[in-house]
Amino acid sequence: MKILVLGSGAREHAIILALRSEPTEHEILAAPGNAGIARDARIVDLDMLDPAAVTGFANEDAVDLVVIGPEAPLVAGVGDALRERGIPVFGPGRAAAQLEGSKAFAKRIMQAAGVPTGRAVHAATADDVAAALDEFGAPYVVKADGLAAGKGVIVTEDRAAALAHAAAYLPTGPVLVEEFLSGPEVSLFFLSDGDTVRALSPAQDFKRALDGDQGPNTGGMGAYSPLPWLADRFGSEAAFVAEVTERIALPVIRQLDAEGTPFVGLLYAGLILTERGVKVIEFNARFGDPETQVVLPRLRTPLSELLLAAARGTLEETPAPAFSDDTAVTVVLASEGYPDAPVTGRPLTGLDEAAAVEGVHLAHAATRAEGDALVATGGRVLNVVALAPDVATARARAYDAIDRIGLEGSHHRRDIAAGAA
Ligand code: AMP
Ligand code: GLY
Repeated sequence: MKILVLGSGAREHAIILALRSEPTEHEILAAPGNAGIARDARIVDLDMLDPAAVTGFANEDAVDLVVIGPEAPLVAGVGDALRERGIPVFGPGRAAAQLEGSKAFAKRIMQAAGVPTGRAVHAATADDVAAALDEFGAPYVVKADGLAAGKGVIVTEDRAAALAHAAAYLPTGPVLVEEFLSGPEVSLFFLSDGDTVRALSPAQDFKRALDGDQGPNTGGMGAYSPLPWLADRFGSEAAFVAEVTERIALPVIRQLDAEGTPFVGLLYAGLILTERGVKVIEFNARFGDPETQVVLPRLRTPLSELLLAAARGTLEETPAPAFSDDTAVTVVLASEGYPDAPVTGRPLTGLDEAAAVEGVHLAHAATRAEGDALVATGGRVLNVVALAPDVATARARAYDAIDRIGLEGSHHRRDIAAGAA
């Protein structure tokens, strides 16, 4: 197949590596990509946010499948434009992508579908915010409504900080004040063809910048999969997945379909396992980053077949995704100053030495080639991914590898998957 992958992060690199690991060889194109992706796919010069440009390219180049990685092209309507031209695309249209793009939309869909989530109030003024904060009590949760690259949410004991966060976003529209939910978090991905869903294997993401879940929220500092402790709570991973499929994924997919906005692509359920059951914290309309980097290396079913079946509406006839029993751990190498003000442009060293560790590979997030050297171009630079038969070995391999990489001022968490080992 000829497959075009849109995006430039480690998630897209992970998707491309999974496509390349299939027994069948594919022609893989990427836009805009990064220096790591350039080694595994042909980079094409294309504005991924321009629906007409992407559609024109896919048409002329006879692309068999377009895979949309990040949320921005979804919200820009790239999926709609491709579908209108009859080009198979994995990624929802603009309307269904509102599930991620608007927290108010997501709450409405969940309410209509009877999906368990935290109570929330839409507050349009500072007074409304203050009243809602007092209604729910501490810890306080305030969320910007639109896409905010992981920065729109604050969870704090400090009422003044919650009010200040709300004040920063109120000029652009109402904010969401939410009930605080307590419990372990799980990310569960569903492939959807608008009607049928197929779950992937659960993962956990580490969102805070510092060890011990301290510091600011980030795009994600590491992840692992599978989650052995799910079996203690639910009897088995399969039982957990079945419950979330029946109570959360299918009702949401049916609701979107009933509203005339079917969801074709990746439904990302961000879940919290509270004492009163599994609840949704958020939905995303795309693969999670960095969870994808630990879920896809464990996938044993050809990814291209699953994505194409979702795009064509034939998931029901396609075998369910199968996963290896290995554990995958990823640790993100971040630039100095990430997430607030990352310092970029610094050279990277030791990548080959890192990739030489048994079971380890690298997924590039923000790298550019400068001559023979690689430089960091963003906040999250690289994902070190390690696979092993058990989580302790996978962690040891990941940290052995990351310790071989040089990037001045960089930081990473030392406790990814520590609780599972
Ligand atoms: P979101 O962008 O909605 O995924 O929120 C980012 C992170 O904030 C989540 O992964 C949680 O760790 C935390 N968070 C969001 N909403 C809540 C909530 N209602 N209760 C507790 N933590 C939350
Ligand atoms: N890992 C969080 C996200 O992809 O939104």
